[in-house]
Amino acid sequence: MVWGLQNRLARIIRPGDGHTVMLAADHGYFLGPTRKIEIPRKTLEPLLPYADAVMVTRGVVRTSIDPDANVPIVLRVSGGASVLNEDLSNEKITTSMREAVRLNASAVALSIFVGAPHEHESLVNLGHLVDEGEEAGLPVLAVTAVGKELEKRDARYLGLATRIAAEFGAHFVKTYFCEPDFDKVVEGCPVPLVVAGGPKLETELDALELAHNSIQAGAAGVDMGRNIWQSSNPVGMIRAIRAVVHDRATPKEALDVLKGGKPRK
Ligand code: 5RP
Repeated sequence: MVWGLQNRLARIIRPGDGHTVMLAADHGYFLGPTRKIEIPRKTLEPLLPYADAVMVTRGVVRTSIDPDANVPIVLRVSGGASVLNEDLSNEKITTSMREAVRLNASAVALSIFVGAPHEHESLVNLGHLVDEGEEAGLPVLAVTAVGKELEKRDARYLGLATRIAAEFGAHFVKTYFCEPDFDKVVEGCPVPLVVAGGPKLETELDALELAHNSIQAGAAGVDMGRNIWQSSNPVGMIRAIRAVVHDRATPKEALDVLKGGKPRK
């Protein structure tokens, strides 16, 4: 790995423990004004001090994050379909590598849609983006997207999709947690995995357990959105997630952090 690329990746995945808490906030690129992030600046500002990186589109970077906010940007660079379309897999690269460099992104992210109608195009997009990322020194995060088919999230499918992403050269991969056998998904993927939160779970404890189980199974961290900013206590929630990911707190210990107990760091 070239120095610049390694350096940028180290800004996201903390070298001390090899873990990361990424804040996912790119939902608008196909969902529009998602609940509780209708005004991105308002939602993001209080959370950024607790995020190891934030995943957003260039539109949100420009309008809603101050240039002097010291948070690494993981720039969403794929898109082209909206939630109004049955097939969400028809994506292209929508933001150039040059623009990513200009925005001082620490990484670029795109979705791949394994098994979907536009599987081929999305994988070719990944190959090209990795070539460009290597040239510019920017790591590529491949998101194993499932579109509207949330039931796809089992170890067999996720193992296949994450491995393909790594084989195409993704430097890290975002996927979903699954039970059983998430450890086998991790084992089969030779680059770091970060776990998406998915739709808001019933309780905060459920989301803390998801983060905890992911780390226990070998994930590098989480890239969580709705389970943080749709919580009734978003700052408490991201601090609690940090406690699980970076400080090895149990989900129950992390609940204390959420409820305003002493922050664990
Ligand atoms: C969309 C994404 C989102 O960033 C991802 O879904 C993570 O957010 P959440 O934790 O809300 O699921 O990559 O494709």
